[in-house]
Amino acid sequence: MKGFATEDLGEVDRLQAGLDRERLARREAERVAESSQRELLRLQAGRALERQRFELELRRAHAEIEEAVAEFARSNQELEAFAYVASHDLREPLRSMAVFIQLLARRYEGQLDERADEYIAFAVEAATRMQSLIDGLLKYSQVGRRQLERGPVDLGSLVIQAQQSLAQAIEDADARIEVDPLPTVHADRVQLGQVVTNLLANAVKFHGDAPPLVHVCAERRPGAWRILVEDNGIGISPEQAPRVFEMFMRVHAREQYPGTGIGLAICQKIIERHRGALEVEPLAEGGSRFSFTIPDP
Ligand SMILES: Nc1ncnc2c1ncn2[C@@H]1O[C@H](COP(=O)(O)OP(=O)(O)OP(=O)(O)O)[C@@H](O)[C@H]1O
Ligand SMILES: [Mg+2]
Repeated sequence: MKGFATEDLGEVDRLQAGLDRERLARREAERVAESSQRELLRLQAGRALERQRFELELRRAHAEIEEAVAEFARSNQELEAFAYVASHDLREPLRSMAVFIQLLARRYEGQLDERADEYIAFAVEAATRMQSLIDGLLKYSQVGRRQLERGPVDLGSLVIQAQQSLAQAIEDADARIEVDPLPTVHADRVQLGQVVTNLLANAVKFHGDAPPLVHVCAERRPGAWRILVEDNGIGISPEQAPRVFEMFMRVHAREQYPGTGIGLAICQKIIERHRGALEVEPLAEGGSRFSFTIPDP
């Protein structure tokens, strides 16, 4: 048998030492991999727990929001029902009151002293005014009570219809109304007709010395149409602008410009029901620009 040479033995030892080092290194790598794996699992478990907690919070917040929205809708409905009943039931006694005061005025005018005539005239005016306020309130509350019946509405024909119903006012004010081509939108025809009529009526009514010049046009917005009604009238200051949409809010003298101040509040309610927005901005050259958006279906 041939023995190992001394240098062969040295080579075996080196190989053995190399193998040992490799084994050690592999074991170390396995240990590191195991501990990383454990750390990963721990992190994943932590994340899952965190996610669960977050989802629970989210669900709770959702439920709270839904409850608040339902509560808001309920109280809104109650308020509308109240406004409807109050204005509806108040009409009759108020009508009798107005009729009797007017009878008094007609029958006894000039027979009492001057002051009595004056008082009767005030009472007649107050009763008439109260009637139009109550009519306005009734109209406002009716907007929310009616179901929206949406369908394609040709805005061009709606504007023509509004002009026809305002023919007398347009003629009296010597107004000119220019209408650009208008789109068909998805809306409730009756209610949108109210908006267009109210905006045109205002554009014709609130004019200065020059006869009213009104321009109606439309522009495309992402996912919606924006309709603009511009006039050359007395305008609204930027500070007053947000207030004109409030109920019964008027920013010009009643003696000069008659009205109850409910028109724009109704317009806003209708546009909000269509998920659009109604806005006003002063024009640099004087006058105002009212605009509303109607989202695509
Ligand atoms: N085009 C306009 N130019 C200048 N002011 C306006 C215009 N439109 C509305 N306003 C102002 O906003 C107020 C509110 O308008 P709104 O249409 O609600 O009421 P009104 O026209 O006075 O009465 P109603 O419409 O109920 O008959 C008006 O009284 C007026 O002061
Ligand atoms: Mg008006």
